[in-house]
Amino acid sequence: MNRFVKNFIIVSIVYLGISSLLGVCMLWNQSLISLKFVHSHLNMLGWVSMMIYGVGYHILPRFAGKPLKYPKMGEFQFWAANIGLVGMLAFYTLDAVGHSRAFTNMTVLFGAVEVLSIGLFFYNMLATLLPKTTV
Ligand code: HEM
Ligand code: HEM
Repeated sequence: MNRFVKNFIIVSIVYLGISSLLGVCMLWNQSLISLKFVHSHLNMLGWVSMMIYGVGYHILPRFAGKPLKYPKMGEFQFWAANIGLVGMLAFYTLDAVGHSRAFTNMTVLFGAVEVLSIGLFFYNMLATLLPKTTV
């Protein structure tokens, strides 16, 4: 198993733990509902997507009987997905606590890094799975 594949699976479980704690805090204190976006995206981009990236990188090329086309791109995608997610949610939280245009801009910038990481996964998977094998 590639190192970044294992790392995707480990961080996805860490994100599930953090988001569930935040969820319970949101139940306990209604004012924390302003962080619903942080909870939902720690879950959807952190827990769900990262688990799918990890399992997908490992399983899908094997289903197709081919190696992953660009493993280095997978490693880079791991960092882009995590830096994008943590940065986006950190600046969203700062913006929710004390609104400033600079925080909003940083949220958008890290969100764009997250979108880039999604594009890299998309490209690497298609480049791996689509080419026809010669028999
Ligand atoms: C112990 C675990 C969890 C707790 C205590 C919890 C709690 C909450 C709370 C309090 C809300 C806000 C509801 C509201 O708007 O009033 C919420 C929203 C949400 N949660 Fe969780 N949650 C948990 C786990 C999860 C998991 C595992 C996922 C996804 C895999 C998830 C996905 C979402 C989503 C997408 C929303 C936004 C829903 C909406 O806008 O209607 N949550 N959660
Ligand atoms: C770069 C990626 C993403 C960005 C920038 C993004 C951004 C947003 C924004 C701005 C909202 C509205 C929040 C609000 O009403 O205050 C939202 C809501 C939501 N998004 Fe995303 N999203 C992304 C990826 C995803 C993915 C991959 C999923 C699911 C797999 C997802 C699931 C949801 C859900 C369930 C909601 C409604 C719950 C909520 O309001 O928090 N998002 N997203």
